[in-house]
Amino acid sequence: MGGCFSKPKPVELKIEVVLPEKERGKEELSASGKGSPRAYQGNGTARHFHTEERLPAPHPYPGAQDCVEAAICHVKDLENGQMREVELGWGKVLLVKDNGEFHALGHKCPHYGAPLVKGVLSRGRVRCPWHGACFNIGTGDLEDFPGLDSLHKFQALQLQRRTKVMAKCISPSAGHSSSTNVLIVGAGAAGLVCAETLRQEGFSDRIVLCTLDRHLPYDRPKLSKSLDAQPEQLALRPKEFFRAYGIEVLTEAQVVTVDVRNKKVVFKDGFKLEYSKLLLAPGSSPKMLSCKGKEVENVFTIRTPEDANRVVRLARGRNAVVVGAGFLGMEVAAYLTEKAHSVSVVELEETPFRRFLGERVGRALMKMFENNRVKFYMQTEVSELRAQEGKLKEVVLKSSKVVRADVCVVGIGAVPATGFLRQSSINLDSRGFIPVNKMMQTNVPGVFAAGDAVTFPLAWRNNRKVNIPHWQMAHAQGRVAAQNMLAQEAEISTVPYLWTAMFGRSLRYAGYGEGFDDVIIQGDLEELKFVAFYTKGDEVIAVASMNYDPIVSKVAEVLASGRAIRKREVELFVLHSKTGDMSWLTGKGS
Ligand SMILES: Cc1cc2nc3c(=O)[nH]c(=O)nc-3n(C[C@H](O)[C@H](O)[C@H](O)COP(=O)(O)OP(=O)(O)OC[C@H]3O[C@@H](n4cnc5c(N)ncnc54)[C@H](O)[C@@H]3O)c2cc1C
Ligand code: FES
Repeated sequence: MGGCFSKPKPVELKIEVVLPEKERGKEELSASGKGSPRAYQGNGTARHFHTEERLPAPHPYPGAQDCVEAAICHVKDLENGQMREVELGWGKVLLVKDNGEFHALGHKCPHYGAPLVKGVLSRGRVRCPWHGACFNIGTGDLEDFPGLDSLHKFQALQLQRRTKVMAKCISPSAGHSSSTNVLIVGAGAAGLVCAETLRQEGFSDRIVLCTLDRHLPYDRPKLSKSLDAQPEQLALRPKEFFRAYGIEVLTEAQVVTVDVRNKKVVFKDGFKLEYSKLLLAPGSSPKMLSCKGKEVENVFTIRTPEDANRVVRLARGRNAVVVGAGFLGMEVAAYLTEKAHSVSVVELEETPFRRFLGERVGRALMKMFENNRVKFYMQTEVSELRAQEGKLKEVVLKSSKVVRADVCVVGIGAVPATGFLRQSSINLDSRGFIPVNKMMQTNVPGVFAAGDAVTFPLAWRNNRKVNIPHWQMAHAQGRVAAQNMLAQEAEISTVPYLWTAMFGRSLRYAGYGEGFDDVIIQGDLEELKFVAFYTKGDEVIAVASMNYDPIVSKVAEVLASGRAIRKREVELFVLHSKTGDMSWLTGKGS
């Protein structure tokens, strides 16, 4: 790429925007598949539906034949390592200068539409400021998750064009045989990304995905942030996508047995399917209360759109109780404050999120909830659920307090959904997780596992075996599993990235903070504008922020580069930085 030189004036940078036919095909599919942002906005959920939770609108890019040449800035206007959004009349592009070269890319993250110009440019990729997805600036390809789509890469003079396309299924047995080349148990994030990666890598044999759900793969994290959302609004891809690429999805299809010797699974209805390669991505099952009255009506866990929709219907103008002040419970409580007459939270710990985010951050968030009229019952638990005519009426606490309740949401954790593997020779650990190596291989050759149900070696924490139940992690593991099915010898090396959204504010988190022994906070907790560094010994092991973008993405990039961040560096930052300048992290300006 470069400039078109028009002397003697300063050198103008011109961009030629060409959208190739095959990219356009993809665009059409994903635009409809990402659900309608208008539908989201129109469902009356505006307040809790943080702007970043809306899916991006279909791009107003020109058609396949269009070629736009526009002078967009002067070559010297951008320094190396800088990004800028430029308006081209029909829409914006993200212009990036790196190592003296210019690149022009789509300006919005395909995940939830974050402005990438506010992200972090590092090591030839831009990391999204909201949830950490990474895009290669040379190709626009998605390199780290969440999200499924890559960025448009605009042909800008000498730049290569985008090459990633997906294969279609050419297997004659597709759709009607009792054997498949790849069987994926679980159509969540890990399963879907595995299937898509196989097609992206040119795999054209049969792929079957199966799920307990009655829906095609959907955006599960939205369930607790937008309980009103309908399944079709949550869909990650439209049914045309699965048809186009020959990815078969068996809905309401529960696998009950895996016979690894004969490479065969049995479904609940007796149907049997043979496979050559198997991915286990069954995710987890929510824990339920075991107290007296646990069988009464109107007590829910949130796993499906139906659960979420029913909760919000029952809570409207009535009393809601949430048990468990973790991410899921707190997101539900926040969402219900606008709908319910009262919202109460019951929690064993003294402070919400304490184990994950520490006491001070937990207290600041608790205050935000109290200011939004959420009532907390802390350091207690439920002893009984009382009903009237079979329907929940009261939640009785161990502290003897009785709380009125018409609906109760239980968010007290989950267990791996691996019960169906107990009779197989696939190893499970004592908690029911499937241990895998860095290539997502189980102990059985040809059987891979990914997502919430696995423990795996976390590369940048000395290969400690961990379970990380995050949306982004499930994507990354699904891809590595697919690559290894194709003998590409890929290893999982992503830095964990998590987010939550409550009352229109987002909290971002990167790293693995288990066992932190100190928290260093910069910013103002009362104002909910802060960054918290979680340290263990001399090292930063995780970071969380609110209203402090893009620091979490920046830390994630540094950790992904293999550089450790020392506690002392952070202490100096907190001591000296009044401005929130983050140049100390990268050695460059922030
Ligand atoms: C309400 C909610 C909100 C969340 N919010 C966030 C968030 O904000 N950020 C974040 O990072 N993470 C969040 N998570 C966690 C995130 O959704 C998970 O980490 C992610 O979905 C894990 O992906 P997975 O593919 O491993 O499993 P899942 O997405 O759980 O998918 C599992 C699949 O396996 C299928 N399955 C299970 N057993 C069988 C069987 N025996 N036979 C056939 N199919 C089977 C299921 O039907 C499903 O299709 C949230 C989770 C929930 C429930
Ligand atoms: S909006 Fe970019 S990763 Fe979510």
